[in-house]
Amino acid sequence: MYLHQLERLSRARLLSLFILCISGLFASNIVAQQATFSDNVLNIPKATVGQKAYSLDLGLSVNGANYDFGLLAASEIPFNGTEGASVFDGQILRVPSLAAGGVDYTLDLNLISSDPIIFRLATYSIVESSVQSKLEQATALYKESIDPQTVQMRCVVCHIQGGLAGGSDLLFTRSSSTSITTNFGIFSQFLDNRDTRRTKLLNKVRGIDHDGGVQLTEGSVGYTQFEKFLKLLLEYQAGV
Ligand code: HEC
Repeated sequence: MYLHQLERLSRARLLSLFILCISGLFASNIVAQQATFSDNVLNIPKATVGQKAYSLDLGLSVNGANYDFGLLAASEIPFNGTEGASVFDGQILRVPSLAAGGVDYTLDLNLISSDPIIFRLATYSIVESSVQSKLEQATALYKESIDPQTVQMRCVVCHIQGGLAGGSDLLFTRSSSTSITTNFGIFSQFLDNRDTRRTKLLNKVRGIDHDGGVQLTEGSVGYTQFEKFLKLLLEYQAGV
């Protein structure tokens, strides 16, 4: 009875560890050497031991609080380096990238038996993407530079309800605790995943067909930042 409960408990934990392993299987096609977990089998497409490389299938069994992975199949593959590979140092098998449920994990498996070969999950952590997403980059740039230096100092005087540009589709709010989020959203809405909108914004600020005249001169830091911001935001909207 007690054991049964324990097993259920560890199943629940396992579920949170390997959320949606099925989608991990799809993600694996993108990065060839990324390990995947599906139907209780951890597939490691490339594990190196010294100058040899293998493709491994390890079967999971839950023993109390432990996740043990027994060797189900191994086949030797050409070595050609350790980049992206899981590396076995004689004791620990380090899996640099396991895709599961859209999340990238890194695992350390500890060899606890060599006959039969069984590894035990020692540690795991989520791999933080070293590259900021387009949205993160756009948001950071907006907050640090665009809103304080351009929108608040140059646009909001006219582009506000009741202002000279009050009838336009670009209405900002003055600096407040929520203005950055609000104004970012206004750009987002105006841009609307359309490159023509990006061009329009760039033209207007340069004074082309703009009743507000020149606000940012081409080549200035402000213009370059604004251009970069719009590019990032549009790429995010387009899913690039
Ligand atoms: C001196 C007032 C003034 C300032 C400052 C100003 N604008 Fe304008 N802007 C206008 C007016 C008036 C219009 C509406 C007529 C037109 O399209 O030129 C307008 C229109 C626009 C449009 C077209 C909106 C639409 O509905 O299609 C964009 C885009 C724009 N401005 C961007 C900016 C940005 C970005 C800034 C700040 C860098 C800015 N403007 C600063 C007066 C201003």
